[in-house]
Amino acid sequence: MPSRADDVDWDALRAAAVSVMRQAYAPYSSFPVGVAGLVDDGRVVVGCNVENASYGVGLCAECGMVSALHASGGGRLVAVACVGANGAPLMPCGRCRQLLWEHGGASCLLETPLGVLPMSEVLPQAFGAEDLDRAGE
Ligand code: THU
Repeated sequence: MPSRADDVDWDALRAAAVSVMRQAYAPYSSFPVGVAGLVDDGRVVVGCNVENASYGVGLCAECGMVSALHASGGGRLVAVACVGANGAPLMPCGRCRQLLWEHGGASCLLETPLGVLPMSEVLPQAFGAEDLDRAGE
C-alpha cells in the first residue's frame, strides 16, 4: 500500500469524494461535503455529511466515512481526500481531524488546499490513545 504521496491516485480518490458529495443531505447549511479514504488493504471508503433539523446532531462526512471503514471490515486509512461543493480540497474540521488521526495516524496523507500533507502536520502534537496510557503513569 502506498506510503508516499506520489503512489496515491489522488485524482481517483478525489473523484470518489466528489461523487459521494453529491449524495450529501445538507438542507440546512447547503454545504455538501464528500470524503474518500484509501484503506491499507486497497479498499476505498466514502462518506457525506448528513444534517438534522436539530442542527447540532448533524454528521460530518468524515463520520460516515469512518463508519463505512469499520462496517466494511476495518483497517487503517492511508490517504484521504475531502471536498466541498466545488470539488476542491476542503480542510476537515477540528473534530474530524481527530477522527482521521484515530483511524489513520500520523502518516495518513490528506489532500489539502496547500497540497498533500501527513496528518502529523494537519494535527500537530495530536492527542491520541498513547496519551490515555501515559495519563496513568
Ligand atoms: N462538514 C463536514 O462534513 N466535514 C467537515 O470536516 C467540515 C464540515 C459539514 C458539517 C455541516 O453539515 C456542513 O459541513 C457545514 O458546516
